[in-house]
Amino acid sequence: MQTRQGLASYSGYSQDGNRVILEFRAGRLAITALEEGFWRVRYSRQAEFAPRRSWAVTKADSEFAGLSLTVSEEAEIIELSAGQMRLRVNRVEAGVEWRTAVGQVLLQDIQGPQWLADGSFVSYKKMPADEFYYGFGERTGLLNKRGKRYTCWNTDPVDRNMDHGPGANELYQSHPFFMALRPTVGGYGLFLNNTFKTTFDVGHKDPARLSIEGAGGELDYFLIYGPDPATIVQKYTDLTGRMPLPPRWALGYHQCRWSYYPEAKVREIAHELRARKIPADVIHLDIDYMDGFRVFTWDKDRFPDPAKLIGDLGEQGFKVVNIIDPGVKYDPNNGYRVYDEGAEKDYFVRQAGGELFHGYVWPDDSVFADFARAEVREWWGDLHKELLAAGVRGIWNDMNEPAISSTPFEEWGPHIDITLDAPQGSPAELTSHAEIHNLYGLLEDQATYEGWRRLQPDTRPFLLTRAGYAGVQRYSAVWTGDNDAYWEHLEMSMPQLANLGLSGISFAGADIGGFGGTSTPELWARWIQLGAFYPFSRGHAATWTPPKEPWAFGERTESIARRYIELRYRLLPYLYTLFEESSRTGAPILRPLLYQFYQDANTLQLHDQLMLGSALMVAPIYLPGQEYRHVYLPKGQWYNFWNNALQEGSDLLAHAPLEDLPLYVHGGTILPLGPVMQYSDERPLDQLSLEIYLDEHGVARGRLYEDDGISFRYQGGDSCTTLYTAATDAAGKVRVTANRQGQYVPAPRTIEIRVHGLVGTKHTSLAEDKGDWEVSF
Ligand code: GLC
Repeated sequence: MQTRQGLASYSGYSQDGNRVILEFRAGRLAITALEEGFWRVRYSRQAEFAPRRSWAVTKADSEFAGLSLTVSEEAEIIELSAGQMRLRVNRVEAGVEWRTAVGQVLLQDIQGPQWLADGSFVSYKKMPADEFYYGFGERTGLLNKRGKRYTCWNTDPVDRNMDHGPGANELYQSHPFFMALRPTVGGYGLFLNNTFKTTFDVGHKDPARLSIEGAGGELDYFLIYGPDPATIVQKYTDLTGRMPLPPRWALGYHQCRWSYYPEAKVREIAHELRARKIPADVIHLDIDYMDGFRVFTWDKDRFPDPAKLIGDLGEQGFKVVNIIDPGVKYDPNNGYRVYDEGAEKDYFVRQAGGELFHGYVWPDDSVFADFARAEVREWWGDLHKELLAAGVRGIWNDMNEPAISSTPFEEWGPHIDITLDAPQGSPAELTSHAEIHNLYGLLEDQATYEGWRRLQPDTRPFLLTRAGYAGVQRYSAVWTGDNDAYWEHLEMSMPQLANLGLSGISFAGADIGGFGGTSTPELWARWIQLGAFYPFSRGHAATWTPPKEPWAFGERTESIARRYIELRYRLLPYLYTLFEESSRTGAPILRPLLYQFYQDANTLQLHDQLMLGSALMVAPIYLPGQEYRHVYLPKGQWYNFWNNALQEGSDLLAHAPLEDLPLYVHGGTILPLGPVMQYSDERPLDQLSLEIYLDEHGVARGRLYEDDGISFRYQGGDSCTTLYTAATDAAGKVRVTANRQGQYVPAPRTIEIRVHGLVGTKHTSLAEDKGDWEVSF
């Protein structure tokens, strides 16, 4: 057995502003107080810290405000204090303890970190019995991750556990980030800034011990004090970046199947959606649009004139999103430009011995672009030129873990069993596969995003990715991969998306109706009820499954689909405002209740109710044959969205026959709603409804963000935000005011104002929205 070694004894420190380096016999520990409640802890057993700038972190330590840090050397520990926090470092083994100024211990090492000769490390932390854990990206299972053991190693779990069961470990993305919450103390976040295979054992082996293990690289982590979840996510996304504001149409409903082809089929889907009046903005083209799965080509028989097709669909209000896979068909001497150019310029990954890396994916024998090299990313980005020129409005990056098989694909699909085991990056910054594996998808997304920005600088990109690493939100929306038509997967999508949101990934969704398997009408109906609230809302289905379009299950399911997708479109003004907020602060769009109500211990493990922003709570039915469910209502007033009735008590038995979705509004909010449209920009927001839900003090607030929905002009100030307030006076009169800031001028519109409160609903309307106004009634 190899012996583990720690840093051994302390010998002294040096300080440079807000950074202190503690020297130990076998290594060093750098501690930086970045800003209030935000520290970096970085160990190295080498004389120097790794020079490489992180791929996940967007901000250098020097770009933070910095806090003045004082050091005091005591008998057993060295105490560093900055602002409201203290970090105490143990002299013998460099274990740390992080506490607040009032002495609350947030995080405490059981012992100092230990290394093996191969460079792998482990750090053990105490797990207070009353602490709950969240984050880690898109994991399966319920909300609280206590008791789990998760490895960060991007994987397409085909074959091994196609069912994404609760015991599944790795999925497509790696987010070495978690948030810990204690009802009495509040919470903190920890981001392990390490792209190697890392493992978080959250009390799985030992219920009182959290272990952080890494296969290589530095033990380098950021500690983020809340105490509330919103502050933690806000700081974490300040570090790793935030979702750029997407085009507004991307918030509409997306229709997908593997695959719609030939073009007549695509036209038929578009026709059905419009004829049946099921609102939709987007149709996705899966792999069969390509010529023999060659990326950046079209099958000319199936799609003889893509620009014409896309133009015609555009006239009906549809946008087209095309899938791109990273595997480039190995196709020498055949006139396939992507292969020829990549080969000529030596852009494909080579094995350590120098031979080209080959693996099997859809086009069978394939090679893989080396996205760790800037010039390769640039080339890849530019390859999108023709797709964008043809009118394609979004790129769906799939299979980018990357998923690779050692043998040709059989009829039944891939059997992913190898990884891109080869060094990557430019000679000056060559990385091992161990270090770069988790970044393959993120770097492909970066290449695509940056290429798009060069090719179409005036339109906001829409990207969708399967693989990713912390920070991928800067480039792409995320979907949770190949789920199945299981009730369990409908249920699981709630904690999965909630934890993604807490991990900085706001724009996310699961395949509505389940990708694999056969959905029943009941399952599909229940799924669209919830899926209409996913930030990314897309129906999708695997090629081997029966049809899963909203009309495939009979009239009853179709009208349920229409009702909930229509509701999503009515909510677009609210939803877009949430997207704008998220792009500025990182706040999740779909949130677990604990995000807002973390001081209420009842919310800490509540996985089957979600908040859409701070106003709406959805409590779906996710079991077959059920018409009733328990709903927990935290403190405050809650209204039934459907009949505006004030709810009594904190525990409800909601009655929801198949047509119904339990949906509640938190008192104190003003919801801006639009009219039903068949697609997001069918017409401007010409009728605004303000639904006002008073709190117990007769007060409510709301916000509406608007811009052109498509360009970057908002960055130059061409946007506006209207703040709405409502207050009740002693005589019971409600005064509603609107105050608009910003230079964007929305289209003329009328406003309906409805106030819901203790005494029922009052109503008034304005024939013209002047931006700033006031009404009393
Ligand atoms: C992968 C994707 C799935 C897609 C299929 C074919 O399984 O996860 O969404 O439809 O590949 O491209």
